[in-house]
Amino acid sequence: MIDAQALSESALAEIARAPDAGALERIRLDYLGRGSGRLTALLESIGTLPKEERPAAGKAGNEAKNRIEAALAERVAELERGRLDDLAELESIDVTFPAPPLPMGRLHVLTQVQRELEEILGGIGFAVEVGPEVETDWYNFEALNLPKGHASRDVQDTFFMNADEDVVLRTHTSPVQIRAMERLKQPPIYVIVPGRVYRRDASDPSHTPTFMQLEGLAIDEGLTVGDLKGTLTYMCRSLFGPERKIRMRPHNFSYTEPSFEFDSSCGICGGVGCRSCGGDGWLEIGGCGMVHPTVLRNGGIDPERYTGYAWGFGIERMAALKYSVPDIRYFYENDVRFLETF
Ligand code: DAH
Repeated sequence: MIDAQALSESALAEIARAPDAGALERIRLDYLGRGSGRLTALLESIGTLPKEERPAAGKAGNEAKNRIEAALAERVAELERGRLDDLAELESIDVTFPAPPLPMGRLHVLTQVQRELEEILGGIGFAVEVGPEVETDWYNFEALNLPKGHASRDVQDTFFMNADEDVVLRTHTSPVQIRAMERLKQPPIYVIVPGRVYRRDASDPSHTPTFMQLEGLAIDEGLTVGDLKGTLTYMCRSLFGPERKIRMRPHNFSYTEPSFEFDSSCGICGGVGCRSCGGDGWLEIGGCGMVHPTVLRNGGIDPERYTGYAWGFGIERMAALKYSVPDIRYFYENDVRFLETF
């Protein structure tokens, strides 16, 4: 009969060679498995021995069982230590290694263009002025010489805030002309007003119901159309490039007299005419003129002493011209692939 001592020695030798946890489990079953285990069988057979041999055999059997169990536990721990050591070697983390760059956001292209315009015009003395987006009829229309029933109110399809239609989402940044005169009180006044405006427009490649404008206002002694044109030329050349020319065409705005629309020469053909400018050579930018005496008076300024010029345009359109974007709605789709190109 095989003795317990011999069984435990062969078990210990197998355990020492076992390459992994699976092999150890097979060894455990082979020796200690209920029913099938070899040492289990030996322990069970002790009951058949003559009485005086049983204590010694039982002791030897239990010792063998304890030794095998201890060796199994030790080998499991040893294999685990080895696994962790390998892991440390293969998958070590170097805390001094530079991290991959974080995905960084950036300013929206419209904000970039707005800030560029603020820099350009700030450089020649224009300070940024802001006003409310919810405006009264007085500032948005009336004070700008646009009484109720005036034809050009119609083009500015308005979002009214109340049934009396005397509170509106401002349709342009021009109301801030009056607010600036009231706040600053006395000329010289040189301000620009970037801001959001609202119109009940259907959206198309050049219209969205909300968009950004930039308004300019200069009031001083002796200002002329020449100063206006010089400012517009400086602004467009700084934004688009030094080769640009400015053209002013007579127009009508109730808050300026005389009034103009102003165009920039086409950046692609240089003014000769091409597909991109519709063969015209010029691209329309915005409106401008000499501030109407009534508007100066509404702002508390003496039109006998001071004159002023003003202009306004859409920032989306300016950005679209600068970057040749065919549809201003792209600016609002917030497709990161598009926005990342600026
Ligand atoms: N407010 C006009 C618009 O929204 C633009 C404009 C025209 C602004 C003439 C002015 C100006 O300051 O003098 O279409």
